[in-house]
Amino acid sequence: MKERFMAKRSLLVGFGGFLPDRVVSNAELAERLETSDEWIRTRTGITRRHLVGPNDTAASMGAEAARRALEYAKLTAEDIDAVFVATATPDQAFPATAVRIQAALGMKQGFGFDIAAACSGFIFALSTADAFIRSGQIRNALVIGSEVYSRIMDWEDRATCVLFGDGAGAVVLSGSDNPDDRGILSTHLHSDGTAGDLLYVDGAVGQPDKSGHLKMSGRDVFRHAVGKLSSAVDEALEDEGLSYADVDWLVPHQANIRIIEGVAKKLNLPSERVVITVDRHANTSAASVPLALDEAVRDGRIQKGDLVLMEALGGGLTWGSALVRI
Ligand code: ACO
Repeated sequence: MKERFMAKRSLLVGFGGFLPDRVVSNAELAERLETSDEWIRTRTGITRRHLVGPNDTAASMGAEAARRALEYAKLTAEDIDAVFVATATPDQAFPATAVRIQAALGMKQGFGFDIAAACSGFIFALSTADAFIRSGQIRNALVIGSEVYSRIMDWEDRATCVLFGDGAGAVVLSGSDNPDDRGILSTHLHSDGTAGDLLYVDGAVGQPDKSGHLKMSGRDVFRHAVGKLSSAVDEALEDEGLSYADVDWLVPHQANIRIIEGVAKKLNLPSERVVITVDRHANTSAASVPLALDEAVRDGRIQKGDLVLMEALGGGLTWGSALVRI
């Protein structure tokens, strides 16, 4: 019988990101919508976003982010046992985007599947991969968030279409039996379907009308966000016997600068310790946390040994946190 490698922890060993070439400023949106750079910037912190061209998809962008994460980890696709993809904008109903990415990477071994938790998807996927690793089923995993929200926008609806962007981010997780305190310390996941109508897409391939556009009660989502994210942050720290002062970096979901600042204030974290990309990427949903993580690791802000707190909230409602020592 093959003996299972029982990992104590899942280490984050690779980071990658991909943003499509086309950059659209607030001013460009204001040319065809009744909006302004000032309104968007002051309400959200967003100044621009990347949008896909005709050939980019969740699978193509996710595969590129994965290649970069593998390169960072000095691993190849052959080393990977499983691919977990968080996306609400898959290329097809099936095969899963994860399986398309496996094929793009040349993987024939292992398995892959998608996880649908909207903007919290990356935290849900990270938690799932971590559980597979610590149960001994797999050793190395790719965890990817990849989204093309520009294709589910109602481009006539100024209240939503200015908020989102496209992109993909990825991490490589690797099981370790080293007893030091690096790796994923804990994840906490929540969902509450009774708030499902606050943020949803009004269509899918299982519906008579297949087209779907994102609908959001922005104010209500905002109201839920700071409270739910703050409690997700508290439970993560309490579980590990840690305090706000122990956190080196907050890597939040990038929906709105005011939500991010609200959580950072509660943590008593100065803004220099919060990774912000919403100004340049807008809300890339499940891709936002891994994109922010990739940026801050590669530019040297986040260092080995730093305690990083990730949090996200999205349609579902879904929300959660992950506490990681890099
Ligand atoms: N430009 C100009 N005016 C606008 C725009 C725009 N782009 N969009 C809306 N307005 C107008 C509205 O029509 C309204 O006008 P009225 O008062 O004449 O009716 C006014 O601005 C205020 O609108 P509100 O929606 O009340 O604006 P608010 O201050 O709440 O800001 C926002 C809106 C930015 C969406 C905010 O509510 C928010 O960030 N919510 C949270 C969104 C979020 O975090 N989503 C995360 C999850 S995303 C996911 O899971 C997929």
